[in-house]
Amino acid sequence: MTGTEDRLVALVAGGAGGMGRVIAATFAQKGYRVAIADLASTGLEESVDLLGADPRTALAVPLNLRNLASCQEVIARVISWAGRLDVLVNAAGVWREGNAEAVSEADWDLVMDVNLKGAFFLIQASLPHLKAGASIVNIASDAGLVGNAGAALYCASKGGLVLLTKALALELAPRQIRVNALCPSDVATPMIEFQAQQYGGDDPEGYKRRLLSHYPQGAAARFITPEEVARFVAYICAPEAAPITGAALSMDFGVTAGY
Ligand SMILES: NC(=O)c1ccc[n+]([C@@H]2O[C@H](COP(=O)([O-])OP(=O)(O)OC[C@H]3O[C@@H](n4cnc5c(N)ncnc54)[C@H](O)[C@@H]3O)[C@@H](O)[C@H]2O)c1
Repeated sequence: MTGTEDRLVALVAGGAGGMGRVIAATFAQKGYRVAIADLASTGLEESVDLLGADPRTALAVPLNLRNLASCQEVIARVISWAGRLDVLVNAAGVWREGNAEAVSEADWDLVMDVNLKGAFFLIQASLPHLKAGASIVNIASDAGLVGNAGAALYCASKGGLVLLTKALALELAPRQIRVNALCPSDVATPMIEFQAQQYGGDDPEGYKRRLLSHYPQGAAARFITPEEVARFVAYICAPEAAPITGAALSMDFGVTAGY
């Protein structure tokens, strides 16, 4: 039987969130030791509880992606806990929408810090510890591939994350470290509920229906489940996916395929 210290180690940033929590659980089911990092301390403890009580196989670490020192501290904590890092998933993020005139400097800084800057500096801090076979997955968005009217700021952050992914994939390929972006359309998580409540006026359900009204499936359109995302992320990180690097992988029911 493999000892605990031989098991692969995954770090999921945003692991208290809708997608991150299920991604973390999926890696745990596959036998990884999993560290979960997030700003949300309550959700963080709940997420790590889901992974089981064994402190050798599950770790919760506070993280503020807006802060370089916090990114570095998280990686240091994971390495001192597990001695290795094999998978890094950037699954934290924030959504803000509104026409360009309405975007404040504070909104700009928040979205760029969490969605782009933090993802970069978490990767940077992990680099000395990643070995051949390691895999990085950045959860970008369909909004990182095509424009989304009324969401220029979010699109800029996710478009930046996609090209950051591609550039790093080339830089790290000689070390046999893979870097990919996953670009889902709407996923049923608390983020969608936040969007509907915050921007749906007095009709949050109508907001959600409008999101799906752009889908080519018509009346059969639905949100992606976090489980569908998590299974795909786990596949991307598996050895069978060795040729996949530098990719912006769409998972969007064809929403970005064209008109
Ligand atoms: N839900 C969707 O429809 C959808 C679609 C495409 C892409 N995405 C992206 O997928 C990722 C996961 O989104 P989700 O739907 O699970 O959202 P979510 O809101 O459920 O979770 C996001 C997590 O990020 C954490 N976070 C926010 N700011 C942080 C910070 N400063 N430091 C550390 N953690 C912070 C939150 O605490 C939360 O736990 C995000 O990057 C999001 O932009 C979401």
